[in-house]
Amino acid sequence: MFTKAILRKPGRSLVKGLRSSDLGTPDHSLALRQHASYVEALWQCGLETIVLEADEDYPDSVFIEDVALLTPCCAVITRPGAESRRGEIYEMKKVLGEHYEQIYEIEKPGTIEAGDIMMVGKHFFIGISERTNIEGARQMISFLESNGMAGSTIDLEKVLHLKTGVAYLENNNLLACSEFLKRKEFSSFNIIDVDPAESYAANCIWVNDNVLVPSGYPITRQRIKDAGYKTIEVDVSEFRKLDGGLSCLSLRF
Ligand code: GLY
Repeated sequence: MFTKAILRKPGRSLVKGLRSSDLGTPDHSLALRQHASYVEALWQCGLETIVLEADEDYPDSVFIEDVALLTPCCAVITRPGAESRRGEIYEMKKVLGEHYEQIYEIEKPGTIEAGDIMMVGKHFFIGISERTNIEGARQMISFLESNGMAGSTIDLEKVLHLKTGVAYLENNNLLACSEFLKRKEFSSFNIIDVDPAESYAANCIWVNDNVLVPSGYPITRQRIKDAGYKTIEVDVSEFRKLDGGLSCLSLRF
């Protein structure tokens, strides 16, 4: 179970965030309202939230999940593969120092963004992507192993981050879009298949037996309900314009 989450408000510079699609420019006022609704959804799941002020120097810093991996016994500050995001880590070091005694840091030439890391109990799947390299994964796995945990890598084909396409919902249930339906690494999970027309909804988050689902994806929401979960819809349309999803917007621990 999680008890807390760290988030960062979106700044006005959000409009300059990295993006691979042409879904338009995010509306800052709407993004702020959507962010506030997301915080409320985490409250509904019983979490205490720590909301950092916007950092205008880093347009993508609202996607706070990418800059740290939080585990039950240690935290790891990442080294983002996107150069424009590297400086996001400095404030995280201060913030995490208030919550963790053991904090590691990924070093050059390693790169890793925690959107590429999916926690399944004590095992962490790490996507090798344009943002996360083998050396970053190697360093991460060594930190995990020295704390009684484990990790393994999985090559990504199409998605930006591993959790763009797959979400672990606990109880051996894995929500997965097409790229991951037949992967041997995930063959032991019960797969909840995301319809290709709703592939964005593969990025859901499990929070204390609730599943947060992006608004506007009814087939996926129903499949998650049918698997026995209570769902909470959250509109993240403005973050989607920057390839961001529900998981990217918080660090849950
Ligand atoms: N815009 C989110 C990212 O590319 O990191």
